[in-house]
Amino acid sequence: MTEHWTPASWRSKPAKHMPTDYPDAAALSAAEQTLRGMPPLVFAGEARRLKGLLADVSEGKAFLLQGGDCAESFKEFHADNIRDTFRLILQMAVVLTFAGGKPVVKVGRIAGQFAKPRSEPIETIDGVTMPSYRGDIINGMDFTPEERNPDPERLLKAYGQSAATLNLLRAFAGGGYADLHNIHRWTLGFVGDSPQGARYRELSDKISEALTFMAAIGVTPESHPDLHRVEFFTSHEALLLGFEEAMTRVDSTSGDWYDTSAHLLWIGERTRQLDGAHIEYMRGVKNPIGMKVGPTVEGDELLRLIDALNPANEPGRLTLYGRFGSDKIADRLPRLMQATKRAGRSVVWAIDPMHGNTLKANNGYKTRPFDRILSEVRQFVEIAESEGVHPGGVHLEMTGQNVTECIGGARALSEGELADRYHTHCDPRLNGEQALELAFLVAEKLKDARETEPKAALA
Ligand code: PEP
Ligand code: CO
Repeated sequence: MTEHWTPASWRSKPAKHMPTDYPDAAALSAAEQTLRGMPPLVFAGEARRLKGLLADVSEGKAFLLQGGDCAESFKEFHADNIRDTFRLILQMAVVLTFAGGKPVVKVGRIAGQFAKPRSEPIETIDGVTMPSYRGDIINGMDFTPEERNPDPERLLKAYGQSAATLNLLRAFAGGGYADLHNIHRWTLGFVGDSPQGARYRELSDKISEALTFMAAIGVTPESHPDLHRVEFFTSHEALLLGFEEAMTRVDSTSGDWYDTSAHLLWIGERTRQLDGAHIEYMRGVKNPIGMKVGPTVEGDELLRLIDALNPANEPGRLTLYGRFGSDKIADRLPRLMQATKRAGRSVVWAIDPMHGNTLKANNGYKTRPFDRILSEVRQFVEIAESEGVHPGGVHLEMTGQNVTECIGGARALSEGELADRYHTHCDPRLNGEQALELAFLVAEKLKDARETEPKAALA
């Protein structure tokens, strides 16, 4: 691991879950070359800022809220979808901030979340075999050779869509839409008339009252421009390393390498081999990074991975997302938290309650029971508290759209209803109402934790 690193040094290591079947290798190299000439999507300074905020999370001073589609797609690319995901994150952040009394660091799984690891590289339907769908940056979902063959042009299309998405997000975050004074206007249409909508309105009333009071004593968006905007960051799984390599640039301020395709990149559960290409690539870029931690990881393996990714033990550099499943977390997480704590490793511990709780419904739909998602989050907070570790955040697959992909929740979505609006390009997502319900429940848990915290810790 001490070998010389370059943006391309991953190429000499085994790479899992990457397509090896591009029909035209020269066209792939040409597309990567074109990307090298494209402007960065994010700046190194922004990535450093996020790292600083995550350092606060690692010290228990803030909470991370990360969420968005499992897979973005070219087909669902629309301003309304971007706005709806953005405002859902704002709404959830308000709920969490109010209860937890701590700043919420807002990170979207957006503007680049296109490449997917798949359990099978090929798919056979009626005796016909083709490559599996791997996300729109690689191939298409329709079961035809034209769609399923990897197409390098898709890298450029994904770059373009990421740039346009990020442009809109920056406008939403800085252009007044995210001003807390608009809190009543963020309500998503279909969430408005739900129990969560009513609870949210109650909370917004309280916040509006506080804002009126603040204005009366002279604290207004004019005197405090921060009230007028919000900091919002982007993230995706760094899976397709040719794309990430092409977006890797030297920061002129620090002389360090940054992956300029997103503020935060993470390594998936299926590509975190210590001697593999993904760990090799990620160890060399200075962005804040994440890693999924599933039920098979042991403490010593985790520490070796941490040492590879964060040898200087920098706070905010590494976020671990546990994704065990509601039936396994109680057995797995305590010993891993003990391992990082005992070894004095600075990490953010967060929970991805989605990927360990996926199942097939009787009618064949891939789904996730809301109860299990919730149970994994609850157990996460409880385990963290009993281990003396800060429950740092949640990582969710969710959308502001009124989809029917996860069963349960306040409206008790049934298996029979999954077919109604099942639009995901990969895994089932929480819809806006379910996500807001989850935020309220996490908020309650954090509030309980805040109230039982020793007073000295609050000083
Ligand atoms: C994902 O986040 O979409 C994903 C594939 O997760 P994991 O790597 O945890 O399976
Ligand atoms: Co997923």
